Amino acid sequence: MEIFHPKEVEHRSALMRVLQDGLRPDGAAFPIEAEYPLVLGQGKEAFSYCLGTSEKPLAHANLWPRRLVGGTPSSDLRIGLVGNVVTHEQYRGQGLARDLLEGLKQEAIQHGLQALVLWSDLNAFYQKCGFSSCSEELRWLISVPRQEHSASESKVVLQHEPSLELCAALLASRLPIGPTIERSAKEFQTLLRIPQVSLMTTKATTPSAAAATFTIMGKGCDMIGVVHEWGAVDALALVEQVKAQGRRLGYSEVLLLTPARLPATWQEALHKQATQVQSHPMALAWCQPGATRSILEHSFIWGLDSI
Ligand SMILES: CC(C)(COP(=O)(O)OP(=O)(O)OC[C@H]1O[C@@H](n2cnc3c(N)ncnc32)[C@H](O)[C@@H]1OP(=O)(O)O)[C@@H](O)C(=O)NCCC(=O)NCCS
Repeated sequence: MEIFHPKEVEHRSALMRVLQDGLRPDGAAFPIEAEYPLVLGQGKEAFSYCLGTSEKPLAHANLWPRRLVGGTPSSDLRIGLVGNVVTHEQYRGQGLARDLLEGLKQEAIQHGLQALVLWSDLNAFYQKCGFSSCSEELRWLISVPRQEHSASESKVVLQHEPSLELCAALLASRLPIGPTIERSAKEFQTLLRIPQVSLMTTKATTPSAAAATFTIMGKGCDMIGVVHEWGAVDALALVEQVKAQGRRLGYSEVLLLTPARLPATWQEALHKQATQVQSHPMALAWCQPGATRSILEHSFIWGLDSI
């Protein structure tokens, strides 16, 4: 069986059905392509790899070439993010997903991508396919006290249609922590339109002042009650806004994701605020031989980049 990209419109809809049935078996209030606009949207077919026939795709995976940039010492690494891995229900257990992932590795080698990175709880399956845990993140559990008229609430605002200027300011305001995925303001703006994404910022008139402290919670059917991307002047300002996010949606607890290599002062402050903290592998990765692994181990990939 050959690996191919979906081309015609009708092939695209057959593929979306396989994705929707396999990845959202309980249904969803929005189509799966709305959750992954940069890899499943119209015109993004080159990032989709299928096995089967174009009329009947049996297995699918996205491969999205990206740059891992920044950190100290500064890195610039081309890697592939992998996501939306699915095999048609009736064809599982026949090695299709493994064959497809092997195909993606060959594609990575051919195109100079040093590693493939993905997010999944299916450790056993991905280990069989040559992936292993990489880097660490911290998951802080923050209790949300019920408070109807908190002074901190008047300092924040929900952003529904962030401008490109605000998106650029938000990118600049993220804590600079190790290598991370390069993202343009335009891509950020598109990602912020994913259903169930809640962007809260400081209430201010200029983009840079608004971006001083910001939080992003939720992402389609994923990251429900999870703040997975943020920037803040200090840890206390961050926690206040995490609570405001939780209060708005009526959650009693919110999970805050941070890199494990957070500066010590931030960690101390967060320890005082959180009811619980757990260290967890950030992602699963397959690497080409060489120095890549150590760069990946120091990386942190923000929530909107994961596919
Ligand atoms: C997970 C999934 C993609 C696997 O597809 P598949 O084509 O059946 O997988 P393969 O047949 O290539 O399996 C390769 C190996 O992994 C094993 N495996 C498959 N699914 C597994 C699972 N869920 N847990 C543990 N091992 C698994 C197989 O038994 C096989 O091992 P073997 O070589 O020892 O026999 C498929 O079950 C699926 O579409 N699930 C629903 C969507 C999903 O959860 N996708 C992953 C999102 S991150």
